[in-house]
Amino acid sequence: MTQHSATPAPYRTGLLSNEAPHERDRLRSIQRSVDAFTIKVIQDLPLEASFNCLELGAGAGSIAYWLAARCPEGRVVAVDLDTRHLDMRRAENLEVQEADITSEDYAPGSFDLIHARYLFCHLPQRDEVIARATRWLAPGGWLIVEEPYHLPADTSPSPLVQRVLAAYQRAYRDNGADMTWARSLPSLLAHNALSEVSFAGNLGCMGGGTKDRWLPLITQAAPAMLADGVITQEDLTQFTTLLEDPAFIDIPQVTIAAWGRRPEATASTH
Ligand SMILES: C[S@@+](CC[C@H](N)C(=O)[O-])C[C@H]1O[C@@H](n2cnc3c(N)ncnc32)[C@H](O)[C@@H]1O
Repeated sequence: MTQHSATPAPYRTGLLSNEAPHERDRLRSIQRSVDAFTIKVIQDLPLEASFNCLELGAGAGSIAYWLAARCPEGRVVAVDLDTRHLDMRRAENLEVQEADITSEDYAPGSFDLIHARYLFCHLPQRDEVIARATRWLAPGGWLIVEEPYHLPADTSPSPLVQRVLAAYQRAYRDNGADMTWARSLPSLLAHNALSEVSFAGNLGCMGGGTKDRWLPLITQAAPAMLADGVITQEDLTQFTTLLEDPAFIDIPQVTIAAWGRRPEATASTH
């Protein structure tokens, strides 16, 4: 089997498939939790209204919709394996495309801005797809990638959360995800000849009552976690109660955003 033919099983039929009953809740929870950070990162770049943008693994679409509004003279292509949570009527300059980004290709230099969030950690060919994405950038174009970096489960202040997070991380790992790859992003972008490489982090919040963003994520992974036998339904019930306690607050992961720019074409000296 070549690396190229591998389809990320968790998003086709597995743990994270759109057939999973809680996928919409999970995608919305992700958006509530990180959109403000993502938008700040993108806003701080020298965006132009005419930018052509590509949103990889667009999910429920919040960033694609935001880019379409921010770049009204350009266009936004929102691509995902499964586009059922995307609404192409949200903007006239929005194109929704159902495709597998591990095999899809675009003409070199097609986009001024390419963004992806929580996508590459799931792709077995993550480094190779980053390299291909840099070639889709127009000279001067930006690649912005945001991925999770999970902190060690056994450093949680709660023994129960230590076990729940260990089971969660294992379920993701068993489904091909790499939850620490994000750390290599700045280096990877620089190795792919991007310039002005920079990065920022956003701390995840588990617990804290209404501040919690993790219950939908754990709920979706629960069947896989229970099947492992490391945690029980009783553990999950206690975990749900713990998250409602405003005095329990934990930081299970950091979202690392890294970005870089394809250098402008230099004028020929001949
Ligand atoms: C964790 S969700 C993140 C969604 C969105 N980027 C966000 O952060 O709100 C990952 C998304 O990537 C999509 N995806 C996973 N593998 C993909 C692939 N090979 N090609 C295109 N999309 C993919 C999934 O269908 C899902 O919508």
